[in-house]
Order: sequence, then C-alpha cells, then structure tokens
Amino acid sequence: MSTNLKLFFQLIVLLFLFKQNVSEFEFTNIKCICLDEQFSSIEYCLLKSVNRSYKYISLKVNLFKAPVTKVKVNMVLHKRFNGYRPFLYNFTVDACRFLKNPAANPIANYFYGFLTVHTNVNHTCPFNTPIIFDKLSSNFVDHRITHVLPFPEGDYLLETNVYVNEVNRVVLKVYGSLS
Ligand SMILES: *[C@@H]1O[C@H](CO)[C@@H](O)[C@H](O)[C@H]1NC(C)=O
Ligand SMILES: *[C@@H]1O[C@H](CO)[C@@H](O)[C@H](O)[C@H]1NC(C)=O
Ligand SMILES: *[C@@H]1O[C@H](CO)[C@@H](O)[C@H](O)[C@H]1NC(C)=O
Repeated sequence: MSTNLKLFFQLIVLLFLFKQNVSEFEFTNIKCICLDEQFSSIEYCLLKSVNRSYKYISLKVNLFKAPVTKVKVNMVLHKRFNGYRPFLYNFTVDACRFLKNPAANPIANYFYGFLTVHTNVNHTCPFNTPIIFDKLSSNFVDHRITHVLPFPEGDYLLETNVYVNEVNRVVLKVYGSLS
C-alpha cells in the first residue's frame, strides 16, 4: 500500500475515533409532576452539575397508598425539531408483569437498563417503600446511547407517565442533549 493511501486510512480512522469521542450526552433538565397528592409526593427531583464532566439526576417519590400492586408505565421519547415531537418510541408496559421477566420485553428492558444500577425498583411488585432513582449520571446514559444502541444528535425528552390502578399519578420529564 502506498504511504499516501496508508495516511488516508489513518486519517479516516482518526476522524471516526474523534467523532465517537465528541458525541456526548448531557442531561439538561428534569421535571417531576405529582398529579394526585393523596397518592404520592415528590420528595426531590433534581439535576445536579458537580462539574463539567459529572452531572446526574436523582429523584424520590413517596407513596401514601402502599402497597402498590398495579402499575402501568407509558414512555414516549421526543426529539426536538420545531418543538418536541414523539420520536421512535411510544410504549406502555405493565410494570409488575415486566419486572417478573424483563427479558421478555426488549424495548422496555433497554430503557430499564438505564436505571437498574441506580434504583430500588429492582424487585417485583408490590412496592411498599419510596421509589428512588439515585445519581443517574450523564456519562452512564452517554455510554448506553452511543455504544449500546446509537441515537442521532439532538435534544431529547423522555416523558414517562405512571398509572397506578389505571389512574395517571405521576409524570416525569427528563431532558437531555446529544451533541
Ligand atoms: C468531577 O467530579 C467527580 C466527582 O466528585 C470527580 O470524580 C471528577 O474527577 C471531577 N472531574 C473534574 C474534571 O473535575
Ligand atoms: C402514544 O401512543 C398511544 C397509543 O397509540 C397514543 O394514544 C398516544 O397519544 C401516544 N402519545 C404521544 C405523545 O404521541
Ligand atoms: C436492589 O437495590 C438495593 C439498593 O440499591 C440493593 O440493596 C439490593 O441488593 C438490590 N436488590 C437486587 C435484587 O438487586
């Protein structure tokens, strides 16, 4: 192979690596909305920037009507074009059935995979204790969306509606950007 050709291929490889490195996910906002104060309360719901490379979200939802045994979760991914529009994913799962056998629902399992190491929602129903998502970091999400199942760059919103006994009780909106 000629030297020029070698250099050319090295350049392509470098560009490819560079592209991989600059692709970066960051949380930009989080909103937690309690629709029924008799049922639950949001103790905290926050986005924290420790420094430029360490940002995380945490939230805690207290349950007043435990045990909770009938939960449906609807997740809709939105991407910003002119305003946020539904993008690729809109699915609803019976959370209690899902938690018994996560592998049976690959899409829900992909999203659940963002949370497993950072939550106490790692057991089957019922739920008796506050629901906690602890320090889910941008870097962890970044790794999953750039390596496990790639997404195009842009601004995203993951909206989650939680229904308990068929009533929408809590709405979670997590915003992030992939650049
Ligand atoms: C950011 O904060 C984390 C946690 O305190 C620390 O481990 C990391 O070294 C910090 N990074 C920079 C660039 O300061
Ligand atoms: C998600 O899908 C359901 C069922 O098809 C539909 O009723 C709902 O409007 C969709 N949500 C959004 C935000 O598009
Ligand atoms: C669930 O998470 C809690 C808190 O992080 C942990 O103590 C517990 O061992 C986990 N249980 C399972 C089954 O992974």
